[in-house]
Amino acid sequence: MVTGRFVSLEGIDGSGKSTQAHLLAEALRARGIEVVETREPGGTPLGEEIRRLVLHSPKGAVAPGAEVHLFAASRAQHVDRLIRPALARGAWVVSDRFVDSSLAFQGAARGFGIETVLEANRTAVDGCLPDLTLVIDVPPATATWRRSGNGDDRIEAEGIAFQEAAAEGYRELARRFPERVILVDGDGEPAAVHAAVLARVEALA
Ligand code: TYD
Repeated sequence: MVTGRFVSLEGIDGSGKSTQAHLLAEALRARGIEVVETREPGGTPLGEEIRRLVLHSPKGAVAPGAEVHLFAASRAQHVDRLIRPALARGAWVVSDRFVDSSLAFQGAARGFGIETVLEANRTAVDGCLPDLTLVIDVPPATATWRRSGNGDDRIEAEGIAFQEAAAEGYRELARRFPERVILVDGDGEPAAVHAAVLARVEALA
């Protein structure tokens, strides 16, 4: 059976990962590959409803443990209804965030620990891990400056120390899962970062 490839783009808020996810999807399409471009939380109708709850509820309305499971619930639906069927028909999936966001933000930054959050996500991921996860690595101060002017969601409103802790979480993931999670220097022009992303992805084709 021909199966597609699954690539996730990760990074702290303002890292430029959404731009990079889109540029990557377009570059793959230009090569004649069917690409499903998606995001978390979200990617399915249920997931988008969960996104609204988890990101746009008033401050203090979502308990940290509930947050872990809301992101995981969105992910479970995403894997079952969108990602797995796409891969099965041979499409590539490019996802703007996946499980490593939960490991970095809820595991490292919120303090639940990477192991605990990985365990909480086991039924959601259900063995469907990305072939490659690229973390767009930028200093938190640069990222904060880049997104100034955009309205903050509940997680972004946590501030720079939280983003620093998530960035350290991503570095820990790259050390822990070196065959899957790769840091890409994101402190450059979008076109230069895109070239670095593409070089990593080409190794998968
Ligand atoms: P994102 O969609 O990247 O934000 P934007 O719409 O501004 O581009 O991500 C939304 C927020 O959700 C972001 O602050 C990271 C957070 N998040 C987690 O904390 N855990 C998760 O598992 C996921 C998927 C996202």
